[in-house]
Amino acid sequence: MSTHEQTVQRQFNPRAEAYRHSAVHAAGPDLEYARTLVSSTAARPAHGLDLGCGAGHLSFALAPHVEHLVALDPSPNMLAAVARGAHERGLRGIEVQTGSAQSLPYPDGTFSLACTRYSAHHWGRLEDALREMARVLTPGGHALIIDVIAPDSALVDTHLQAIELLRDVSHVRNRSVREWRELLGAAGLLEGQSRQWPLRIEFASWVARMSTPQRHVAAIRSLQASAPREVREALAIEPDGSFMLQTGLFWLTKPPHPATGPR
Ligand SMILES: C[S@@+](CC[C@H](N)C(=O)[O-])C[C@H]1O[C@@H](n2cnc3c(N)ncnc32)[C@H](O)[C@@H]1O
Repeated sequence: MSTHEQTVQRQFNPRAEAYRHSAVHAAGPDLEYARTLVSSTAARPAHGLDLGCGAGHLSFALAPHVEHLVALDPSPNMLAAVARGAHERGLRGIEVQTGSAQSLPYPDGTFSLACTRYSAHHWGRLEDALREMARVLTPGGHALIIDVIAPDSALVDTHLQAIELLRDVSHVRNRSVREWRELLGAAGLLEGQSRQWPLRIEFASWVARMSTPQRHVAAIRSLQASAPREVREALAIEPDGSFMLQTGLFWLTKPPHPATGPR
């Protein structure tokens, strides 16, 4: 029986090439928006950290606007893809590091930017990871979080989380905007702005990217076929199984001075 961290490695380490070429990951309005946010900060971030960098699409988008960026992931093959991609693009400021978001090997206040994209829904202990993210930020530093957003409806949410888990057994949870705000507030990060975008998931390439076993693909199709109308409409399920997700971006600041209680 393996731990969740071993499951993550087993799922992602063999799939660096698939994620490098994934159209869903390689482009998107969220990447453009992230680039605009980071490039328009008053002071160019000196040290950036990309948590769960995968094949490096967020790192590549932000590296030209950050002096030095650490791309961190537990999967060695993902990190090798990032190092190769950085070399091909002539991006010299990217360093790769093996590790988990839940336990960061850096002293307090190391980074002026900490970011993550499409990774947090795999983290077994999200609260710990967000606390770590806030800890390694300098006071006044920025956090940028991009992930799939869970629907507010419990009915739709249950169906979505079920098909996500069947497709990839390293899926933990998509969080709703309300859950994200509670978690980020508890980590001591102040929200500056947030955005959402719809994202169409093309079914065949979605399950191929994760090499989803055929019996799980059949279970997803069966769940989709029996889903009530509210779910089919909310997820815009198409005849071939393709459907719509919501993605969200949060831009946050670590307060320059720690909050003090009443004296
Ligand atoms: C979908 S990929 C990331 C996509 C990438 N950030 C991008 O913009 O294209 C998810 C990544 O999260 C990583 N991951 C999973 N659990 C993690 C954890 N606890 N800490 C850091 N990374 C993790 C996986 O190894 C995988 O490479």
